[in-house]
Amino acid sequence: MSRTGLWDSHAHLDSDYFTDDRDELIAKIGEEMDGFINPGCTEESSAFAVALAEKYDFVYAAVGWHPEDLAGIKDEHYLDKLAEWAQHPKVVAIGEIGLDYYWKENEPKEVQKKRLLEQINLAVQFGLPVIIHDREAHGDIFDIFRNEVPKGTRAVFHCYSGSLEMAKELAKRGYYFGFGGTSTYKNSAKVREVLAYVPDDLLLFETDSPYLTPVPYRGKRNCPLYTELVAKNAAEVRGTDFASIAAQTTKNVKTLFNKIK
Ligand code: NI
Repeated sequence: MSRTGLWDSHAHLDSDYFTDDRDELIAKIGEEMDGFINPGCTEESSAFAVALAEKYDFVYAAVGWHPEDLAGIKDEHYLDKLAEWAQHPKVVAIGEIGLDYYWKENEPKEVQKKRLLEQINLAVQFGLPVIIHDREAHGDIFDIFRNEVPKGTRAVFHCYSGSLEMAKELAKRGYYFGFGGTSTYKNSAKVREVLAYVPDDLLLFETDSPYLTPVPYRGKRNCPLYTELVAKNAAEVRGTDFASIAAQTTKNVKTLFNKIK
């Protein structure tokens, strides 16, 4: 085990924000943490994620098309490339996929829902979990998971921002919840309410680096090392200690992303 024993379940180290010091930073992460998962957002960034996972034994990849990037899909063959990667030993999930109704320039809702379901079906076909992005789309995400996703779909709702009521329904179905920097923000009482509620075995930590940096570094570039700040805050919110919450969430990472040994 590393010093912290933590995993960052969601970090975009392929981002240009890390061009100047990526390898140096990842080496440091390897000393301090047990590992991290790098989701892709396009074919290009998924390829980058897979390359990082091949280079470092404690780095794992997820592959997929983010709802903000769907305009880049040329035709239905995009699924063939994802299917090929799905069989790679270090590709542990399909993601980051989901719905994003915040940005007006994103593809129409119907297109987003179609691409989301296609990618979920692919994940189920290959026995992989999905990493879900939901921004301003709680109602539709909930409907899709209640009515349309195949039985046996395994999922984490990354950077969970929905209501406590919805969280209770999702937890009943065995879905996981990712908490990151937003759970440390002063104005995020609602997120902490859900963080306090989530059952032990469905809790994951993440950073979403390079974005959503936790307090006290809010506004600066985020990096997986700050998972420690997220975990310390969560231990306080949940009335437990750091070592227990680190051990529990690491166990959860390996249960959900079960290709990680
Ligand atoms: Ni992300």
